[in-house]
Order: sequence, then structure tokens, then C-alpha cells
Amino acid sequence: MARDIAKVGVIGLGTMGAGIAEVLARSGLSVVAVEIDDEGARRGRGHIEHSTERALSKGKLDEAGRAALHERITYTTALADLAEVDFVIEAIPENLAAKAEVFAELDKITKPDTVFASNTSSLSITEIGVHTARPGKVVGMHFFNPAPVLKLTEIVRTVVTEPEVIADVVAFAERLGKTPVVIGDRAGFIANALLFGYLNHAVRMYEQHYATREDLDAAMRFGCGYPMGPLALLDLIGLDTAYEILDTMYHQSRNRLHAPAPLLKQMITAGLLGRKTGRGFYTYDAPDSPTVVADSTQESTVDTASARPVRRVGVVGTGTMATGIAEVFAKRGFEVVLRARAAEKADAAVAKVRKSLDKAVAKGKLSESDASAALGRITPAVEFDALADVDLVVEAVAEELSVKQAVFAALDEVVKPGAILATTTSSLPVIECAAATTRPSDVVGLHFFNPAPVMKLVEVVHTIATAPDVVATAHAVCGAVGKHPVRCADRAGFIVNALLFPYLNDAVKMLEAHYAEAADIDTAMKVGCGLPMGPFALLDVVGLDVSLAIQRTLYNEFREEGFAPAPLLEHLVTAGRLGRKTGKGFYDYTVR
Ligand code: CAA
Repeated sequence: MARDIAKVGVIGLGTMGAGIAEVLARSGLSVVAVEIDDEGARRGRGHIEHSTERALSKGKLDEAGRAALHERITYTTALADLAEVDFVIEAIPENLAAKAEVFAELDKITKPDTVFASNTSSLSITEIGVHTARPGKVVGMHFFNPAPVLKLTEIVRTVVTEPEVIADVVAFAERLGKTPVVIGDRAGFIANALLFGYLNHAVRMYEQHYATREDLDAAMRFGCGYPMGPLALLDLIGLDTAYEILDTMYHQSRNRLHAPAPLLKQMITAGLLGRKTGRGFYTYDAPDSPTVVADSTQESTVDTASARPVRRVGVVGTGTMATGIAEVFAKRGFEVVLRARAAEKADAAVAKVRKSLDKAVAKGKLSESDASAALGRITPAVEFDALADVDLVVEAVAEELSVKQAVFAALDEVVKPGAILATTTSSLPVIECAAATTRPSDVVGLHFFNPAPVMKLVEVVHTIATAPDVVATAHAVCGAVGKHPVRCADRAGFIVNALLFPYLNDAVKMLEAHYAEAADIDTAMKVGCGLPMGPFALLDVVGLDVSLAIQRTLYNEFREEGFAPAPLLEHLVTAGRLGRKTGKGFYDYTVR
């Protein structure tokens, strides 16, 4: 018979413990909340008051519900007060010796059948469990920050956890309104193992001055639809916690990508732990506040005062990216010359734009008259000469170096001096396009995301030769078409692909290692980190061949062992399982 859980102990009332206590009390359970001293208990209560205040103001809780929730929690500094609880969740700092001591003590205090759960994010549950006389009743129950909001709970079973205990903990998590995923005892479990390599990579990029903190964060929010950028997320998690997780993962995996970036240690030493201390990568208006305030680290945004005037825009290509970009410019009032290799291709490309505009009208996003005005601004062309007097040309042809270089050489012949030549390449060096011209200082990367009319992000890529006023113009133009530009140097993957694909590749390696199923990994990332899609669903959408090509480019440029494409990805591509487009990838699809 399933165990009856009515009274639960929570040990440690930091961000996570307080959030967990709130979740438990919200579900009608009595909670005994233990802190090391009165000050800790006071802080913990403060966390819960603050969080429920937010729930109240957002209409997630009413005043009576809030009062009842608080009444269900009693605060204490004595572990002995847990004698009667049916279940304990420990959420003290990530220190194995301290956790071992707490569990050994609990073992003496509590009823023999009481289940012990640790909210550790990286320590071994097996190692924690052996400090009790009931390792079969010790599990991991890993919540995600903020615990009252995020639904994932990773339930960690060790080789000795009793199967009935796991079943009971799963049922308990469901009762709390959580989505449980059961997994084995491995550093980082699913979500952190995939998340922290990515976060650490972002810190390294920041440390190397590759992009500003604002641009790194905006890139992931606007390019991938993530709820927060990596540096803002590290501030939420706490840099000290992040360091501990990475360090433990590194010691287990010996994967250099998990070796904490030196900057993390420096910031921790200086007391910049993130939101909890009021300053981390960003500065906040008070400790524990989510409100960012200006500080001296803030780099000024690109000054667009020196931007060259742009009225007429050329787009070269007929694919989805080219027609999407033509649509974006035409909708915002620019005259567009859409150049294709043959008249019928050019006409077909304009027809594609018309179809997309019609869709926008049907969805009520655009008026009929604005759509026809936009279409009227697009002139199809076949000869490069038609681009002679454009102020900006955006090249969006096939992702092949020789093809792009031929386009740039042709543009160099005809386009007026002072015009800006942009490439939309996502995987080739922009400098290779620049080198095909006699005016490398006028060449810049404008990496739009697909579908261009929808996605807000544009990576503005400057090479070592790009003139500052060209970068300024690129930023001004992005602003004029309602896009969010981020600035980065000419390096494989720019910002988004460099951060995204190694994480997707790590997910494939995790699947290959049989640690978890694709569906569970997808659930963990969606439900635990609020991502719009899990890694396998995303790989299937992007295409496994495209993903493999990007991963290979990253590996070839950085020679980072951890970037080596997962063999499983290579095998799937070889077998023709390319994702949604072939009806089979990590998942099977009904091809329409
Ligand atoms: N109870 C119930 N609901 C609450 C609540 C509470 N106490 N406090 C807030 N909410 C609700 C809000 O009402 C809001 O709901 P709607 O979307 O329906 O309006 C929602 O939660 C979001 O809250 P906010 O408006 O306060 O904030 P936001 O929209 O700016 O989102 C965020 C903030 C939830 C943090 C979001 O940015 C997010 O999901 N970020 C990703 C966080 C993440 O990745 N966490 C995992 C980190 S890793 C980890 O935790 C593991 C580890 O071991 C370190």
C-alpha cells in the first residue's frame, strides 16, 4: 500500500528549501522547516513571504490560501522536531560531509519507515544514503529554481533504493503538481548535466570578451526563445551553487567543458554570488531582487550615429531565408531588389513572399493594404547590375563557400562604393566572403534566424576588417526593421549556434549512454528549465544533417574534445534519419 505522507520535514531554507516548503504547504501538507539558527529561519520565512506575495499579486493564490499556507509551516532550529514526519527533504548547501552528518542524525531521530530525500543537484545520492541504516529509503528529489513555478522533479534512484519507495515518491511528486522523471545516480542528473556545460561555455565567452553580457543573454532569449539568458540564469541559480555543480561534474566526467570557468571563482571570491547578494553578472537593486540596475560593467550599446544611410536593399537568393529577409525589409518601407539566377526563380521567390504576406493578413497581423504595399516594394531581378545602386546587399544563397565567394566577387564588380555587403552565413567565416571582394571593410555578417519574419534576433558579425561605421549601420538597419541586433566576432557558431549545438550534442551523448530516454530528456529540459522545446524535438526540427554539420564546424574550429559530434548523430544521418523532413529522426513522424 502506498505510504501515507501528511507531515514533511524540510532541512535548509535557502532559495531551494524555502521554495520546496512553499510547494509542500501549498499542497496541504504540514511542514516542519529546520534551519541552523534563528537568523536562517527568519530569512527562510522571508523568502516564502516574498514568493507568496508574488503569487498573490499575480492571482495565483488568494489571501485566505496564503494565510493557510503559512499556518502549515512551523519553523525550528532542532532536527529533533522531525521525529514525527513521514518524509524529509534536505536542501542544505552542497557539502557531502555536512549532508552525511544530517542524514546520520535523522536516521536516529525519525520513524524507521520515514523516507529521506536530498535536493542535491550534483552530489551522489548513493554516498549520502550509506550514512544511514536505511539506504533503501534514500532518494534524490531534485527541484528546479524557482520551485513554486517550475514543474520538473528529478527522482534519483540508487542501486539500493527500494522500488516501492520510488513508486511512492513518484506519486508524492505528482500530488505536489510536479512532473517526475526517474533516473539513476549520476552527477548533474539530466537537466544540470546538460544545462551547466552550456552555462559554463557562456561564462567563458564573456570572459574572453567575445560578446557583452547583455548580448549573450539576448542572443539566447531572442534566438532560441529561452526564458532567460545564461548569465542572468547563473545569477538566479547562484554562482557558488553553479561552481559546486560544475566542479562535481568535472570530477566525475573529466570533461573540460565542465571545468568551472576561472571567472566564476573570482566572482565568488569577491562575494558576487548573483541575485542573493545583489550582484553577480548583473547588479540588482537589492539582495534577492530580480530588478537589474545600471552599473559600470554595462557596455554602451553600438552608437548608430555614424551609420550610413540605407534606403534600397538588395537580397541575393531565393530560399526561405532570402524571401523572409526581403519580406522583413519591404514590410518596413525599404525598396528591395530580389535577385535570383533565373527569371522564373525570381518570380517564384516573389510569389513566396506574397504567400507569406497573405498568411500574415489572414492571421490579422497585417492589413491588406500594408501587405500589397510591401509586395509593391519588391522588384525581382536576374542581373547583378540591378543591384548597382542599393545601399545594402544581403546575400542568402546556399551555405557553400565557393558559391558565396562567387556572389561576393560579382557584387564587388557592380555595387556602388560605400554600399554594405552582408552575408547571412551561419557556419562559414564572414572574412572568407570579405576576402573575395576589394572592399573587406564594407563586409559584415547579418545572421538572421529562420523564419526571418518571426524571429527577432540578428547576430551582427564583424570581422577583423569590418569598419566601425559598417557595424553601426548594421545595428541601425536591424533597429529599423524591428530586430534585436547582438554584436559578435567572426568565430564558428557566432553566439547562438556555439552555445546551442554542443548542448544538443551532449543530449545525444546522454541518450547514447542509456542514461535516460529521449522523451524524458526532452521533458526535463522543457519542464525544468522552461525551454520551448526539448533537445531531441529541436534536433528533429533543425534536421540532423544540418545539426551534424554545425557541430563538425565547431569541432574543427575549436578542436575541443567535448565538441566531437556524438557517434549516434553521425549514424542517424548516415542511415538517412534526418528528422522531421524525412519522417524519422529521434522520434517518428507521420509524413504529410
Ligand atoms: N507560486 C505560484 N506561481 C508563481 C509564484 C509562486 N510563488 N511566483 C510566481 N509565480 C508564477 C507567476 O504568476 C507567473 O505565472 P504566469 O506565467 O502564469 O503569469 C510565472 O510564475 C512566472 O513568474 P514571474 O512573472 O514572477 O517571472 P517571469 O515571467 O519573469 O519568469 C522565471 C521568471 C520563472 C524565473 C523564468 O524566467 C524561468 O523559467 N527561467 C528559467 C529558470 C531555470 O532555468 N531554472 C532552472 C535552473 S537550474 C536549477 O534550478 C537546478 C539546480 O540544481 C541549480
